[in-house]
Amino acid sequence: MLSIRHKRPISFLSVIICIILARLCLGSSSSSPYETWPEVSVEEQNAIRSERDIQNNITIDQLPYVGVNLQSVLFNNETYEEVSEIDTTTSLNGTDTLNNFASMLNQGIGSFILDIENKNHTWYILDTNIQVKDFLSTLENFLDQSNSNLSANVLLFLLRIHVNSLDDDDSVTENDRTIIRDTLNHTTLNYTMTRQLSLELSGNERAKSVSNNTQLTNLNLTALIEQNFNTNYIYKPSNLLEDNNLNLSTSILNISSSATSSLEWPTLEKFLYTKHNRIVITELTSMLNDSLSSYVFPNTILHLDRYNSTLTCPTNAEEFKNISSIQWRLLEAPFDYNGIQQYMRCGFSPIITNRFSILNITEITPLINRGIIWSWKKNEPRLSNSRLLMGKDSMQAYNCAMLKFTSSNGSAYWQVDNCYSTRTMVCKNKFDPFIWTLSKEKHKYFTYYNDNDDVFCPDNYTFSLPITQLEQRSLDLYLESLDTPNFNLWINLNSIAVSNCWLIGDRSYMCPYSRSVSKRNFVSMLVPVVIIAAVLLVCVLYLSLLNVPIHDNRKNWRRVVNKISKSEMEGVPS
Ligand SMILES: *[C@@H]1O[C@H](CO)[C@@H](O)[C@H](O)[C@H]1NC(C)=O
Ligand SMILES: *[C@@H]1O[C@H](CO)[C@@H](O)[C@H](O)[C@H]1NC(C)=O
Ligand SMILES: *[C@@H]1O[C@H](CO)[C@@H](O)[C@H](O)[C@H]1NC(C)=O
Ligand SMILES: *[C@@H]1O[C@H](CO)[C@@H](O)[C@H](O)[C@H]1NC(C)=O
Ligand SMILES: *[C@@H]1O[C@H](CO)[C@@H](O)[C@H](O)[C@H]1NC(C)=O
Ligand SMILES: *[C@@H]1O[C@H](CO)[C@@H](O)[C@H](O)[C@H]1NC(C)=O
Ligand SMILES: *[C@@H]1O[C@H](CO)[C@@H](O)[C@H](O)[C@H]1NC(C)=O
Ligand SMILES: *[C@@H]1O[C@H](CO)[C@@H](O)[C@H](O)[C@H]1NC(C)=O
Ligand SMILES: *[C@@H]1O[C@H](CO)[C@@H](O)[C@H](O)[C@H]1NC(C)=O
Ligand SMILES: *[C@@H]1O[C@H](CO)[C@@H](O)[C@H](O)[C@H]1NC(C)=O
Ligand SMILES: *[C@@H]1O[C@H](CO)[C@@H](O)[C@H](O)[C@H]1NC(C)=O
Ligand SMILES: *[C@@H]1O[C@H](CO)[C@@H](O)[C@H](O)[C@H]1NC(C)=O
Repeated sequence: MLSIRHKRPISFLSVIICIILARLCLGSSSSSPYETWPEVSVEEQNAIRSERDIQNNITIDQLPYVGVNLQSVLFNNETYEEVSEIDTTTSLNGTDTLNNFASMLNQGIGSFILDIENKNHTWYILDTNIQVKDFLSTLENFLDQSNSNLSANVLLFLLRIHVNSLDDDDSVTENDRTIIRDTLNHTTLNYTMTRQLSLELSGNERAKSVSNNTQLTNLNLTALIEQNFNTNYIYKPSNLLEDNNLNLSTSILNISSSATSSLEWPTLEKFLYTKHNRIVITELTSMLNDSLSSYVFPNTILHLDRYNSTLTCPTNAEEFKNISSIQWRLLEAPFDYNGIQQYMRCGFSPIITNRFSILNITEITPLINRGIIWSWKKNEPRLSNSRLLMGKDSMQAYNCAMLKFTSSNGSAYWQVDNCYSTRTMVCKNKFDPFIWTLSKEKHKYFTYYNDNDDVFCPDNYTFSLPITQLEQRSLDLYLESLDTPNFNLWINLNSIAVSNCWLIGDRSYMCPYSRSVSKRNFVSMLVPVVIIAAVLLVCVLYLSLLNVPIHDNRKNWRRVVNKISKSEMEGVPS
């Protein structure tokens, strides 16, 4: 049994360490010709994390991913010109540009499209002098640093492969130099590669024995990935076949698209915490054949629309069901601040193609944030430490989440509220997550725990909450149909066990990252993912754990519950 009470003497020390670390981080992040990325506040981190945690049971193809087309937002000619003007080693060799990509990952993007091309027998990011292997190292670095229960997320890596014919061989004719882009498939790629090889064989006898294999190896993406990326992070096509009990010798390429859509993807929880995967790689072009793509899914698994959606925004139960049966719904388009959220409520994962460059890329942050945080109101969930309040017998515990719906503008946001307030409860149908109703009576949130039967909702409904944007939209539509101007409703989400760790109501749920905090290895998990905020967050969690030991959960419960029953008997007004 872990007990953390004996650690109390170090709490003062840990405060000092936290402050020093935060200072260090602040100090080291301010010396570049570029705009600095805004820090992700502790509230925003908590919001993102709670959204992730309530989605544990959702299969990864149904998760919302806010993504960017890296070519449009960063790796483009404008950036190339700007870094040439800045003219420092790190700007010229691509380090600055890649650091901005890393910052975008830290801001919480969940997917990205990368365009690559072959130049000089090597894979480069399209229109840049940045090698794909350096990109992969940057990506791996981010995954290493964020690979804890606190910060792990799922990434969707979408790859577009552009094949240039020979570009630096004098013996090649003008015709061969034609740049072939976009529509080449693997048959043609194979042609290009073999032709290149045979040209060199006949053209330059001496070069042949050196170049014959290096060339193929350099352009072999499987080898490139294996040499520059920790492949344990990758969820592979063979994993999907295995998870669906299919023969491993089946090729995912040979499965028709109707059959791939019946394959079942792992849930978020299984993906991150059981399999310890982090990333799914998919090729949007169709250059790779099977032997070249053991890590890469074909584009047939995706539903990717460009500019205009081919799916309509659902309005009734039938349409909600239909749209949620489509896997990996992506929409690649320019988005504006309001549009991005509307599209996400319709069930799409946006891929932002707005034009930016290395000089103004930080201006993408509001757009990304707006897409990522779909549930909580701005600056929510506000931080709380219920222990302090409860200790004063003040009938206050700001550890429960309420849904605030305003019908005049159709907005619905979650915010932190006092668990002692009495409110109507949101009830979700057990068989169809897009059908909602409300409880007849108003209750305190704590009353829900007092009563083991879920007696608040009608038959076939349970006290619940929307866990995807689609569900949130269906709930919004239901509330609109009720013709009441405003609602403040309880949803089944609280942070009673550990302040600031938001979980769906069941008592059996434990905060998944409090254990690593209480294990005292908290300094080693202080990875510089959104460095400053992470430091602060861990400090907040750590300090609140010192006050509310996790293994005292049940005692804490009993106290809370006793207090409620007592107060109810005494008829204390709320
Ligand atoms: C997730 O699914 C498991 C098994 O289906 C179930 O026991 C558990 O209650 C679910 N959790 C949530 C939060 O819905
Ligand atoms: C970027 O510059 C290259 C070479 O100058 C050119 O071929 C390419 O079309 C440009 N790309 C864009 C998107 O303008
Ligand atoms: C770029 O230059 C910096 C400073 O010399 C070096 O640390 C870094 O590794 C280089 N990056 C690449 C991708 O070559
Ligand atoms: C092509 O690659 C070789 C080695 O891989 C390198 O020495 C050479 O400088 C590169 N040429 C250009 C133009 O980048
Ligand atoms: C792939 O290449 C073959 C042979 O060149 C061609 O017939 C086919 O149309 C190509 N497919 C696509 C999608 O470009
Ligand atoms: C690639 O080219 C080689 C040699 O010409 C050939 O044997 C092989 O079948 C080709 N592979 C594909 C997928 O077309
Ligand atoms: C290049 O090809 C020759 C003959 O085709 C082969 O003997 C040699 O091993 C190859 N080079 C490398 C580095 O494998
Ligand atoms: C590519 O690399 C992988 C791993 O190194 C290897 O198994 C595969 O045979 C290579 N493919 C080709 C076409 O060279
Ligand atoms: C997208 O929709 C808009 C208006 O709905 C239309 O004007 C435009 O042509 C469409 N674009 C494409 C590529 O279909
Ligand atoms: C960012 O810069 C690019 C290129 O310089 C420009 O096209 C784009 O409009 C700018 N975006 C914003 C939001 O200012
Ligand atoms: C609840 O669901 C069961 C099974 O679908 C059904 O038989 C029953 O009538 C439903 N109860 C109500 C009140 O709708
Ligand atoms: C991370 O979370 C998983 C699942 O919630 C749990 O099984 C595991 O013990 C946690 N790991 C740590 C270090 O807390």
